[in-house]
Amino acid sequence: MLIPRGYLSSRNSDELLNGAVVFIGLYPAPFSIRASISLSFSRNSLMQISVFGIGYVGAVSAACLANDGHNVIAVDPNPQKVEPLNAGISPIVEPGLSDFIQSGIRNKRLTATSDVREAVNGTDISFVCVGTPSRSNGSLDTAYVTAAAEQIGAAIREKNSFHSVVMRSTILPGTMESIVLPALERASGRQAGVGFGVAYYPEFLRESTAIADYYDPGAIIFGRHDQMTVDRLLEIHKIFKVEPRVVSIRTAEAVKYTNNAWHALKISFANEIGNICKEAGIDGHAVMDVLCADNRLNISKAYLKPGFAFGGSCLPKDLRALRFAARKLDVPTPILDATMQANEEQLRRAYSMVAATGKRRIGIIGLSFKPETDDLRESPLVELAERLFGRGYDIRIYDPNIQVSKLTGANLQFVKAHLPHLASLLTTDINEVVDHAEVFVLGNRDEAKRLMDVVSDDRPLIDLVRIDQARCSGDLYQGICW
Ligand SMILES: NC(=O)c1ccc[n+]([C@@H]2O[C@H](COP(=O)([O-])OP(=O)(O)OC[C@H]3O[C@@H](n4cnc5c(N)ncnc54)[C@H](O)[C@@H]3O)[C@@H](O)[C@H]2O)c1
Repeated sequence: MLIPRGYLSSRNSDELLNGAVVFIGLYPAPFSIRASISLSFSRNSLMQISVFGIGYVGAVSAACLANDGHNVIAVDPNPQKVEPLNAGISPIVEPGLSDFIQSGIRNKRLTATSDVREAVNGTDISFVCVGTPSRSNGSLDTAYVTAAAEQIGAAIREKNSFHSVVMRSTILPGTMESIVLPALERASGRQAGVGFGVAYYPEFLRESTAIADYYDPGAIIFGRHDQMTVDRLLEIHKIFKVEPRVVSIRTAEAVKYTNNAWHALKISFANEIGNICKEAGIDGHAVMDVLCADNRLNISKAYLKPGFAFGGSCLPKDLRALRFAARKLDVPTPILDATMQANEEQLRRAYSMVAATGKRRIGIIGLSFKPETDDLRESPLVELAERLFGRGYDIRIYDPNIQVSKLTGANLQFVKAHLPHLASLLTTDINEVVDHAEVFVLGNRDEAKRLMDVVSDDRPLIDLVRIDQARCSGDLYQGICW
């Protein structure tokens, strides 16, 4: 973890900024960050930065940026935010923040004002950290963001040098494009990317550990509009260990919501498991501790790629059994219930995509629940084939791992119950499917590649597995969720 510059004596601090590598153990901190650390700072050029909004995000950002050596002007229309800050008093309770603010004010790297023109004129880059609360119907209130963009835009109109506006507030995908950029352009009379710069840089700090999170971020994401603004952000963030990821503005906007939804889902999942465990006389903390210790399948990238429904001989069966057991214990399981519903929705979505082509002769590529197995039990592709067959579609299925005559036991029983005609629909010859189909459903990546080798025309493809990362949905190619 990087140590905030303010923790260091001025001599050490200068050494660090001159590119020296230092090893610090148990460095004195004004709050509870204590660690044995090795770090390497490279010289970063100091900037003039304005921070709009002296709330939980803005106050921390402004104080930390000043602590990093930048000259920071914090802006807020509310004098109850501006006056205390200028007096060296933190407007919020946050461990370590008062010390940062006091030293920022003392060494004149940090000031606060309500004067937007002064702030924009005196800086090269503005971070916008104003509130984006919920309206009563749950929609996002962008009034503060719009007002801030208009005020900054009006100040840019009177400025000669290139100013960058970096949105840090949480805003839904498309908000930069549809609200913030137009407001800035209208008010400034200039074109974004030419007359001024723009970026979206989502904030991930957690209150109560905000300064620690600032100096040790899990990820830094810049939504890029123009390179000049990204270069400025990269310069400011050169001191951090994490390599910033530069993505499109919409992707950066979506990442913020995805992160928070993921955190909320994890909390509710852990709570639900805890509730079941408690009633079953098991310590839910012990269970979740073990779950979290597996970094290969549990706390990892595994199962976190958007795609088709889950299936196979374990997940659906075990979810059903767990929900049943919870019902017997009188424990509601809304997360587990919704997981089953979400899976059904993914199946319905695939079926609708086939139906939307208007074609009747369908080639299904892959049938087992994953590649390199002949296990068909609860394969969502079997379920999809069953629905299509049941509704009169003329289907042919290619899966070289499956020979109906060799299926045995529960696998055979499942096929008999769900696709009794499988033998007449299945082929191990890809050309048979190619000759038959008007549209292909790609359910297995390996077999889909084989199909791509022999199909040269442009029949519609419905891709459930993302055969090619570079491919996005268009007229004849539709990815299930990309
Ligand atoms: N609080 C968090 O932990 C956290 C973490 C990550 C992201 N966020 C997001 O960051 C944004 C800010 O959150 P917050 O908790 O700091 O909000 P906040 O309500 O604490 O602070 C917002 C501040 O903006 C000021 N403001 C309003 N209009 C302004 C304008 N035109 N110019 C300058 N200042 C203006 C307000 O007076 C207020 O002081 C939100 O979008 C939030 O979702 C918050």
